[in-house]
Amino acid sequence: MISVGIIGGTGYTGKYLLEFIQKHENVSEYTIYANNSAGSQLLDIFPELLGVIENQTIKSVDNLSYSHDLYFISLPHGESLKYVPLLLEKAIKVIDLGGDYRLDSEKLYKEWYQFDHTSADLLATKVYGLADINNEKTLNSEFIANPGCYPTSIQLALIPFLRFYANKIISISSVSYSGASGAGKSPKTELLLSELDGNVKAYNVNKHRHQPEIEQELKKYGMNSPFAFTTHLLPIARGIYSTSTIHLNSEISEEEISEKYLTEYANSKFVRMRNVPPELKWVVNTNFCDINISAKNKTVIITSTIDNLIKGASGQAIQNMNKMFGWNETLGLLNTKNN
Ligand SMILES: NC(=O)c1ccc[n+]([C@@H]2O[C@H](COP(=O)([O-])OP(=O)(O)OC[C@H]3O[C@@H](n4cnc5c(N)ncnc54)[C@H](OP(=O)(O)O)[C@@H]3O)[C@@H](O)[C@H]2O)c1
Repeated sequence: MISVGIIGGTGYTGKYLLEFIQKHENVSEYTIYANNSAGSQLLDIFPELLGVIENQTIKSVDNLSYSHDLYFISLPHGESLKYVPLLLEKAIKVIDLGGDYRLDSEKLYKEWYQFDHTSADLLATKVYGLADINNEKTLNSEFIANPGCYPTSIQLALIPFLRFYANKIISISSVSYSGASGAGKSPKTELLLSELDGNVKAYNVNKHRHQPEIEQELKKYGMNSPFAFTTHLLPIARGIYSTSTIHLNSEISEEEISEKYLTEYANSKFVRMRNVPPELKWVVNTNFCDINISAKNKTVIITSTIDNLIKGASGQAIQNMNKMFGWNETLGLLNTKNN
């Protein structure tokens, strides 16, 4: 049994983290740390969780205890830098849900996040935790950078393809759609219902911070072609839908590609290959990523969908915790007898 601290446990991703933690059979206790809500009762922040979670007083991050076995950090970008070095120094395990350590290069933080990284030496020590792609480094690791939400949906869709066919690719374009919860709970005019309702728009075109993360990781699987990434905001609260179009220099059959994906994900409980393009509502409120492949002539179209708050954040973080401690990776995430 372990004890867990959740720094930023009153945010959108924090809420699902604490729900998973509350029912996890290997976690004996947890403490929530936050900022403005410090001193409040947890059930005043999340009244809908009455009867689901135990109440507690939210603690201030200024009084962090360093007494838990593992800390999840779910803070706005730039804030994890204050806590990760101190926790690791004390040999405490960390899973960071934010982007502060996902990139490998310090320079990319200046360019894409507009801050100077204050613990760049730790970038090389983290394990990038794309949980459904086998990575032996996750087991017994000390520090996991949990992938971003768009990167999770796109990498799970593209990595098996790159493993086998990287040298056949002319270009890749991923077009993604997200609900408004992807931006967190702090108020922003563009996220008001009156702005969102009946509307769809592209945003952060060629400027989205997930672009360097996706490119960095896909290059590790052999991507050497141009990659375009376009994000859109949908008038819904939750979910991500990504359509990745791959142009090839020679044809590959849909059957052959599908075989490869079935093999890649044969042992994954959370990636479900579909015979038709998946629907967002099949995955909302779950830790699943649903994927479909369609190939015709020299074009392959891969659709993938996840819940940004669960598979794209808290659910994947729990899966990573399970792997970090050598437990069954589905523990606390599936409502079946075997998890
Ligand atoms: N939303 C998503 O779909 C998603 C998906 C993947 C990854 N992420 C990443 O996960 C992280 C959290 O996202 P979120 O959507 O959960 O954000 P959020 O809803 O805005 O919640 C932020 C949390 O951080 C706390 N906080 C804010 N500023 C703080 C500070 N200066 N010091 C200490 N605590 C502070 C807040 O506490 P108070 O309430 O007390 O202010 C709250 O608990 C971000 O890095 C985000 O990029 C988000």
